[in-house]
Amino acid sequence: MSTELRIRNESAATAEADAIIVGLLPAPEGSDNPVLAAGAEDIDAAFPGGLVAELALLGATGKAEEVVKLVARGAVAATIVVAVGLGKPDADGTSGPEQVRRASGAAARALAGTAHAVSTLGRIDLPAAAEGTLLGAYEFTRYKGSDAGRNGKKPVARVDLLTAAGADDAAQQEQLRRAVAVADAVRTARDLVNTPPNELYPASFAERARTLGEAVGLQVEVLDEDALAEGGYGGLLGVGQGSSRKPRLVRLRWSGGDSPRATVALVGKGVTFDTGGISIKPAANMDQMTSDMSGAAAVVATTVLAAQLELPVAVTATVPMAENMPSDTAYRPGDVLRMYGGKTVEVLNTDAEGRLILADAIVRAVQDSPDYLIETSTLTGAQLVALGTRTAGVMGSDEFRDRVAGHAQATGEGGWPMPLPEHLRPELDSRIADIANVTASRFGGMLAAGVFLSEFVGEGLSWAHIDIAGPAFNSGSPWGYTGKGGTGVPVRTLWAVLSDIAENG
Ligand code: BES
Ligand code: MN
Ligand code: ZN
Repeated sequence: MSTELRIRNESAATAEADAIIVGLLPAPEGSDNPVLAAGAEDIDAAFPGGLVAELALLGATGKAEEVVKLVARGAVAATIVVAVGLGKPDADGTSGPEQVRRASGAAARALAGTAHAVSTLGRIDLPAAAEGTLLGAYEFTRYKGSDAGRNGKKPVARVDLLTAAGADDAAQQEQLRRAVAVADAVRTARDLVNTPPNELYPASFAERARTLGEAVGLQVEVLDEDALAEGGYGGLLGVGQGSSRKPRLVRLRWSGGDSPRATVALVGKGVTFDTGGISIKPAANMDQMTSDMSGAAAVVATTVLAAQLELPVAVTATVPMAENMPSDTAYRPGDVLRMYGGKTVEVLNTDAEGRLILADAIVRAVQDSPDYLIETSTLTGAQLVALGTRTAGVMGSDEFRDRVAGHAQATGEGGWPMPLPEHLRPELDSRIADIANVTASRFGGMLAAGVFLSEFVGEGLSWAHIDIAGPAFNSGSPWGYTGKGGTGVPVRTLWAVLSDIAENG
């Protein structure tokens, strides 16, 4: 059940609701008390002695994501006040979009079980408040006995976003419509990632992608194992051959409307479960390898979003799906696979499977001669070692890599440019094939995987590889608008890049 969002142009003091959300900023230099953020000023005076003074008595400091609730006792129309910290504002006193998104997410989480809330954060940044609220309220309850979510409480049912006085209503409705569509795409990606691997396997994932795509008028093509054999997709077939659930390659096409500004190829890793294969993983935390199709989920959801919002960019998603299992039919360390396009790869480690299915998909995607290629994958544990759980590694052609990393930062999803050192290429030399799938050293593992992929991209194309091994799945506590489990990263980064290309080519 999704939270309903509305826009409301009303005074914060008179808005009737179970709760009203106000933003709080840390005490400025030389002061002891936090200050109310823009949009909530009109209710400070409604409290005897001031709202801020009461919040300060309760220990509120305005630090990011802090939530303090108080009973309004008739001071305002809403029953309770929920003060959420925005953290330190910019030099000019304003809060950035990511601060509003995180505060809105934290407030939405704290409001689980509430029927109707009103938020003043819409007055600071309407789209950010909308996205943060919807993403923070997200719960995956499909496999729970009831649809109860966090702590046995249902997500907040309705949130009215108060808007800045004098704002153009039609423009704001349009802003809201777009923000809701973006948040829905993130939620779709999260749902796919959170669906367990016994239910989401290549064929069922492909059918879900087909259903989602056809609903918005995408051209959909699904290659099954016979079509893959016919086409010579040796990477996908090799990785998938150990599983009774056979691999698929899904292609989704959004035309970009009448006059698309550019063509973009999206590729996402869709390993529906990664045991490591014969090079089997340790048992500890292997359950998290249900998230090894997060790149695919993001690419599918983003392509659907492009159609929904009629983005003037032609987008073709190429999504390889396979389950990596050990069995008597599994591919082995030592096998040589002939990839789509003809290059051969010596498999030295069956747990480096992502790059094998991606190589096939990348070569197929490049055949269409796109202007840009963006590939994303939960590719290496080394990404987590290098950058941690919240910062994706972005590699690729220099200029486009930096552009993508910039958007990853700006959306709050996180991402940092990483090099593809030429000296790593000889470390991938194979005794008997064109290239090996791993190097002998674990150092620079994220970069080595990127170098491997670059061999299949070829020269001259603007491209980016986003390693989301950490950011795609939150195995820690909820924070901001990110709950446990699938995060939907990097849907908003992909969307920001596509929107940038729509505007600037
Ligand atoms: N899916 C994993 C990478 C991964 C690890 C994602 C942890 C999320 C969390 C990938 O297929 C893998 O197993 N990579 C190997 C590569 C190695 C064998 C060169 C790794 O990182 O250990
Ligand atoms: Mn693996
Ligand atoms: Zn994997």
